[in-house]
Amino acid sequence: MKIDIPCILNKKKNREKISMLTAYDCSFAPLVDEAGIDIVLIGDSLANVVLGMETTKEISMDEMINHSRAVAKSTKNAMVIGDMPYCAYQEHPDEALGHAKRFIDEAGCDAVKLEWFDDALAVTERIVGSGIPVMAHIGLTPQTADLLGGFKVQGKDVDTAKKLIAQTKGFEEAGCFSIVFECVPWQIAKIITESTRMATIGIGAGVHCDGQVLVLNDLLGLFKAFRPKFVKTYANLAETTVSAVKQYIQEVERGAFPTDKESFSMNEEEFEKLQALLGD
Ligand code: KIV
Repeated sequence: MKIDIPCILNKKKNREKISMLTAYDCSFAPLVDEAGIDIVLIGDSLANVVLGMETTKEISMDEMINHSRAVAKSTKNAMVIGDMPYCAYQEHPDEALGHAKRFIDEAGCDAVKLEWFDDALAVTERIVGSGIPVMAHIGLTPQTADLLGGFKVQGKDVDTAKKLIAQTKGFEEAGCFSIVFECVPWQIAKIITESTRMATIGIGAGVHCDGQVLVLNDLLGLFKAFRPKFVKTYANLAETTVSAVKQYIQEVERGAFPTDKESFSMNEEEFEKLQALLGD
């Protein structure tokens, strides 16, 4: 069954947890979907974990759309959300709606996500007003981490906690159906979760959020460049991959791969004709 916004909000109402993960391509998205995830996000973390960029600010709309299309095409049941990259709305807020439409019309996403910035509420109102569902993102917002003093937990004192509460209220009034809290003390996430109609999704925001999100490559133990405190690794695909590739190299080197099973053969009669011809 295709997960939609009423399903997500019903889960919140019934206190059933919402599961969300990132995926970036047509190899992993159907696996995540088959496992039963509620929401797949084509996060702009694509920049770091797939495209090898230093910051998420560097990724382009075309890069996001290509990967979003691959994920949306290969996901049957989960809700698919496209992450608006920095260039899509923070540089020229007036162009944000056009970029949001690309995620829906070109890529086939069900909704978009955007991070807090100065014009976030006006941009959100415009996108929601055109009928595109929006998930908000506050706390540690990687696209503007330099303005937050780096990759740090947000809302640890009364003043910054009040800011997060005000931002949530703003996004709720602008019509968002859901909000991500990244690196926020669990107490703040709990207070907000209990008072907002939006579904709250935490990443480094404690267990009281309505749901949780992780970067798939972190969960699978594929991305080793850095490992934030909030990551839990459920597999070690890096080790599995290196060991499989080592085995392949050894088999190639000693002529053990390919065997007849992985080879194609010519019909005996045709081969004899060819040999006779070559022998002439
Ligand atoms: O880009 C991303 O992967 C995200 C999630 C971590 C929420 O924004």
